[in-house]
Formats: sequence, C-alpha cells, structure tokens
Amino acid sequence: MKMTGNTILITGGTSGIGLGLALRLHEAGNKVIVAGRRKELLDEITAEHPGIDALVLDVADPDSIARARETVAASHPELNILVNNAGIMLREDLLDPSGLPVAEDHITVNLLGTIRMTYAFLPLLVGKDDAVVMNVTSALAFVPYPITPTYSATKAALHSFSESLRVQLADAGVQVIEVVPPGVRTTLLGQQDSDHAMPLDDFLTETFDLLREKPDAKELVVERAGFIRDAVAKGSYDDVLTMITSS
Ligand SMILES: NC(=O)c1ccc[n+]([C@@H]2O[C@H](COP(=O)([O-])OP(=O)(O)OC[C@H]3O[C@@H](n4cnc5c(N)ncnc54)[C@H](OP(=O)(O)O)[C@@H]3O)[C@@H](O)[C@H]2O)c1
Repeated sequence: MKMTGNTILITGGTSGIGLGLALRLHEAGNKVIVAGRRKELLDEITAEHPGIDALVLDVADPDSIARARETVAASHPELNILVNNAGIMLREDLLDPSGLPVAEDHITVNLLGTIRMTYAFLPLLVGKDDAVVMNVTSALAFVPYPITPTYSATKAALHSFSESLRVQLADAGVQVIEVVPPGVRTTLLGQQDSDHAMPLDDFLTETFDLLREKPDAKELVVERAGFIRDAVAKGSYDDVLTMITSS
C-alpha cells in the first residue's frame, strides 16, 4: 500500500481506530471518506477536518450499502482503498437465551457487513492502481475471549475470509491487508481507560510504522498482539486462552 495519494473509504470512521486511521491517512495526503451511522459525529469530523468527506452508512443494511456504493461511484470514482473497520463487541452469556440477538447482531455487522461491503465495492477497486482492501480483525481471531464468543468467532471468520480474498484477488492487482489489533483504548467494550489496553495513538503509530516498513504486508500485527497472533505456532495456545479468560 502506498502511503499517500490514495482515495480511501473507511467504515466505522466515526470513532476509535477507524477515526484514528482516517485522521492519520488524511494528514499523510490521502483523500479520506469516513462512514458510519452517527450523522452528528460525521458532521463534526468534516467541520473540524476540512478535506475529509463523510457518508452515512449502516453496514448491517444492504440498501444502505447499495446507496453508499452509488454515492461513492459518482462522487469519488477514483476510490482505490476500502477499509472494513466497522464493528461491535458485546458480552454474551451463552446460557442466557436473551443473548441470541446479540450473537446475531455480531454476525450481521462484523462478518456479513464486511462481506457485503467487499462484494459491493470490489468492482470499484479492481483495475485501479494501488488498490487495497484492508480488513480490521483482532488478535481475538486467533485466541478467543470467552466472554465475547460470537465477537471472537466473527473475527476468526474475517481472518479466514481475508486469506481467501487475498488469493482470489492475487491476479486482480488488489492487495489485501489484515490489521490485527490487540486491546486498544476505545469505547468498543468500555476499555477506553483500561491499563490492559494499548493507547490508541501508540497503536496507530506502530501500525503505520509497520506499513511503511513493509508496504506489501499481508498482516499488520503490533508487538502487543504478537503473542496472541502466534499462540498456535508457538505452542502456547492453552496458556494464552487461560490468560485471556482471566483478564
Ligand atoms: N479497540 C480494541 O480493543 C479492538 C481490538 C481488536 C479489534 N478491534 C476492531 O477495531 C474496529 C473498530 O473498533 P473500535 O475499537 O475503534 O471501536 P469503536 O470506537 O466503537 O468504533 C466502532 C465503529 O464501528 C462503527 N459501526 C458499528 N456498527 C456499525 C454499523 N452497523 N454500520 C456502520 N458502522 C458501524 C461505529 O460507527 P457508528 O456507531 O457511527 O455507526 C464506530 O465508528 C472494530 O472492528 C473492532 O472489532 C478493536
């Protein structure tokens, strides 16, 4: 991925990691379009950062995705990067039947949302120079956090999907990059003040350093996520699962 001169659509760009990526990519000389459901936040972002564009988008709604595709195709036909970052993370008690809708929402937003966005926007990316699909998964794709079982399962599925996508797009000139964050201080699961989570700015700085060092990277894994990402390879899976379970 080149670091400047791109046109980039970022889902879940209204807060946290998505907004952080958006601001840094904007500062680096890219055209950035942030997308999310919260119109008031989109308005604030575009007012505070002239040059950033915004799009109301609910990735759980196929009609909203179709409208977004038509809007972007007309307003930014030069789009060459899609960042699938939108996601939700909620606790679930698998013994409580009222948890089922929570599980279903995770699949609709995190997994189906990313898959639908990919199908919708790939036709705009294929054929462009320096085209990229960047999927934000999680270290929990590799060892689950048992209090968020469906969340972890959607991230494991997104890792698998990203692997297949990379193979299918190899001849189409579209790079697929998986971002594998550890716990980062955002409001995703209320960890914005947690000492166990990485400060957002540190996470963004390390991630961009990794991308500059390896522009052809398949995965961006900051040091704090490495022991989870590589737990199977290192034979430490059971220990890491026990550690995550008790955190
Ligand atoms: N923070 C962490 O510890 C961590 C670790 C690993 C992976 N991640 C991943 O990083 C990504 C961003 O999370 P975050 O930590 O930055 O949390 P966040 O601040 O809560 O951001 C989540 C973003 O997703 C958007 N979103 C949620 N549902 C959506 C929907 N139906 N349609 C469109 N946008 C939707 C939200 O925007 P609206 O509400 O405006 O729609 C928001 O911008 C997620 O995929 C998450 O799984 C985070």
